[in-house]
Amino acid sequence: MVAALYRFFFIVCLAIIAAYIALHFFGSDWAIFTSAAILSIPLVYSYINLARLRKFIQADAVENISLPSGYWEEIYFGLQRLIKGLKQKIRIIEQQHDHFIEAFQASPNGIVMLDENDQIEWCNSIAERFFGLNFKRDALQRIHFLIRRPEFIQYFIKRNFEEPLLLERMGSSSSLSLMLQAFPFGQKRHLLLIQNITDLQKADAMRRDFVANVSHEMRTPITVLMGFLETVQSLHLSKEQQDQYFEMMMSQAQRMKTLVEDLLTLANLESNALPAASNELQINTLMALVRNDAEALSQGKHSFTYGAESSQNILGDEREVLSAFSNLVSNAIRYTPDLGAINVKWSVNQEGQGEFSVSDTGPGIAPEHLSRLTERFYRVDRSRSRETGGTGLGLAIVKHIASRHQAQLLIESTPGIGSTFTLQFPMERLSTP
Ligand SMILES: Nc1ncnc2c1ncn2[C@@H]1O[C@H](COP(=O)(O)OP(=O)(O)OP(=O)(O)O)[C@@H](O)[C@H]1O
Ligand SMILES: [Mg+2]
Repeated sequence: MVAALYRFFFIVCLAIIAAYIALHFFGSDWAIFTSAAILSIPLVYSYINLARLRKFIQADAVENISLPSGYWEEIYFGLQRLIKGLKQKIRIIEQQHDHFIEAFQASPNGIVMLDENDQIEWCNSIAERFFGLNFKRDALQRIHFLIRRPEFIQYFIKRNFEEPLLLERMGSSSSLSLMLQAFPFGQKRHLLLIQNITDLQKADAMRRDFVANVSHEMRTPITVLMGFLETVQSLHLSKEQQDQYFEMMMSQAQRMKTLVEDLLTLANLESNALPAASNELQINTLMALVRNDAEALSQGKHSFTYGAESSQNILGDEREVLSAFSNLVSNAIRYTPDLGAINVKWSVNQEGQGEFSVSDTGPGIAPEHLSRLTERFYRVDRSRSRETGGTGLGLAIVKHIASRHQAQLLIESTPGIGSTFTLQFPMERLSTP
């Protein structure tokens, strides 16, 4: 400031001296002209610098302006420092903003930010997918104008945001179950969090079905057993009749035992570590064991053919693989009428996958049942399966064992002709003897 005043006095003094000299030599007109010219020097200089500044501001390049001398140097320098500082701050804020957006985008949950009028300020791509929104198109739209589900609209009218809201049959395929809740933040704004609970709900439904099925399966033999016990207790029966009843009771108890054993097998399969791929199972031994079991079960009522077309062995858990093979063979025996033919074969296909297949000339299975056969407790003909002592868990166990060995269970069946169940092991699960 002091420097500026000095400069001002210097110019004024210069103008006075020049005016005095001009007056003395050229007259009063020249004196006025000379002093006016000298006094306007700072004005012209300021105008030039202002014009430069304007040009650089328009080009957003004030930082690049070369510094003039004198008073304007301080102004330019101050401005440059201010603008550099502000731009740096904006960059940091933008980076933080980008980090927040990236974090919100990475969330597995849908996130929608709503302003005080419930208008969409921002939403992540998961929320866009859940609700069919498009942020660019729908920004600043009221959310309940876009999501027209009555329960959702009510949620926003009642504003009871302490409770979450369940929306079922959402999404383009109407298969999503969403749990959402609005949380207040800032000034009357809300953060809407949306969680996809489809899998949880499915698991819950499966658990309920499972408990219902187990209870149902257990109730029948227990009821029958209690009926027999009451009969034995209340009636005076001959030894022969009593033995007959005991035998029937035994078979019901056996049924319950099988059921519990199968359930335990499934539970173990689910919780045990995956079978090691280093344990080599001799295919010839497996085939021989399967053959013994099959002949004992069939008691000569069926004709069997066995074939081991490959000598490659399987890498896996012996108990599990044998259980899967036996399940398939026992199904073939139990569902194929007497005198039917059963073919058990081990081979390696062109892709190098090992195939254990069991074909029978039984009743076959209608196509609509095929995809459901491996569900727990699923039976095509409940009464027929019960007669044979089936619980409907066998193929569920086989499928579990297969997936633990990265194998696939393939089922082909033609009603009236027969069925072929194939366990297909990947190359990595085979070893050359
Ligand atoms: N080879 C087959 N021929 C015809 N139907 C079959 C054959 N194998 C299985 N099924 C049908 O598939 C259903 C499911 O078989 P799964 O082995 O899972 O149960 P299950 O044999 O009834 O009982 P479990 O094996 O637990 O004793 C059977 O009830 C039967 O209806
Ligand atoms: Mg079975």
